[in-house]
Amino acid sequence: MRQLPADFFRTPHAFYGQLRAEGPVHQITLRNGVRAWVVVDYDAAKEVLRHPDIRKDPHSTTGAQARQTAAGSSGVTAANQRLSYHLLNADPPHHSRLRKLVTPAFAPARMEALVPRVEAIADELLDRLDPTAGRVDLLEEYAFPLPITVICELLGVPVEDREPFREWSAAVVDTPMSTPEGMRKATDAIVDYFDGLVALRREHGLGDDLISHLLTVTDDGDRLSHDELISMAFLILVAGHETTVNLIGNSVLTLLNDPPRYRALHDRPDAVAPLIEEVLRHNGPVNMATLRYTTAPIAVGATEIPAGELVLVALGSANRDERHFTDPAAFAPDRPSNHIAFGYGIHYCLGAGLARLEARIALTRLIARFPELRLAVDDDELRWRESILIRGLLDLPVDLAGAPVDSVLR
Ligand code: HEM
Repeated sequence: MRQLPADFFRTPHAFYGQLRAEGPVHQITLRNGVRAWVVVDYDAAKEVLRHPDIRKDPHSTTGAQARQTAAGSSGVTAANQRLSYHLLNADPPHHSRLRKLVTPAFAPARMEALVPRVEAIADELLDRLDPTAGRVDLLEEYAFPLPITVICELLGVPVEDREPFREWSAAVVDTPMSTPEGMRKATDAIVDYFDGLVALRREHGLGDDLISHLLTVTDDGDRLSHDELISMAFLILVAGHETTVNLIGNSVLTLLNDPPRYRALHDRPDAVAPLIEEVLRHNGPVNMATLRYTTAPIAVGATEIPAGELVLVALGSANRDERHFTDPAAFAPDRPSNHIAFGYGIHYCLGAGLARLEARIALTRLIARFPELRLAVDDDELRWRESILIRGLLDLPVDLAGAPVDSVLR
């Protein structure tokens, strides 16, 4: 049985490389004492993500047992169950039903229509940065507020309510770090909040926001139940910003580690989109996919995972599998993009289009405004989040380096 090494969250790739050299799947003890099978190869990851006997529903008997096992000393089982009826906890056919009801809300045309507003939010945030201030935390001032503002506006959550959401969401995402009491408190608060928001919509009429859309969606008379609706709003809120913050943060970090590449983008904004694809592969914001469990013995390579065991798919490792990518440690935006940073199979990220759009706008506007941006600390001083799920920084200290470029260039 392997343990996660002490420097895993800082530099996961040495460990992942060792594991891949030994086989596609390994039993690992996580920090909270939980044991899970971790899949590290690209082909095996895809196989597991689409396997019909590897499931997610925590309400089934096997699911409930797996969840209990997964809890370890963390607060997972203390979470308010009314938030558990969402896509990432659903298996077919229930998953197909939920997905069909929410997919239209993320249609490409709806996402494209958000471009002017996302650009305005990015510009407002950049306007607030004082170039004479010296060092600023770009995560706090830019990478975090941008996606949370977008997702709050999209859902119809008043923007002034976003601060408590940040705390609640962190308590839920960094589960190995959260206590049962913290988890209960955060999820109760989220339930109360969304109950209130839905009641307001029912009383005062619907708007053009996602909660209103989720309240009215219907497919042959089928609708989301109240708890499905608040669970979905919760999932979209958490999934919609925890990940995107770190796609922006990891992209900026990659670029600031290579200043000529950063500066070159100033005159080539069209090169930003392929660069983001390569960041998703090379240092994507999701470290391991969310928890799954086996409902039958499953062969992965020469290893058999027994029934009723927990399975984690290390997307960050699969995306650096040397059997699939040439020179995988090299950052090469011109390579073909077939990473699985947004997952694979039926749970493929619903917000991938929105995440790409936000990251592209965030980077383009930042580079246009601050072409001389520099990292304010050495690479070994950077602090990484200790999360199995999220690969991202705790802060990103930068030096804005001189006056911003005139707004004409924006
Ligand atoms: C860079 C940003 C993002 C990344 C890397 C990302 C990654 C992922 C991954 C890996 C999954 C699958 C998890 C699994 O199978 O265990 C997923 C699912 C999901 N994501 Fe994202 N995501 C991002 C942004 C977003 C955004 C902006 C939204 C919504 C506004 C969103 C909503 C969802 C939803 C609803 C699911 C569940 C889909 C299902 O189960 O059918 N994500 N995401």
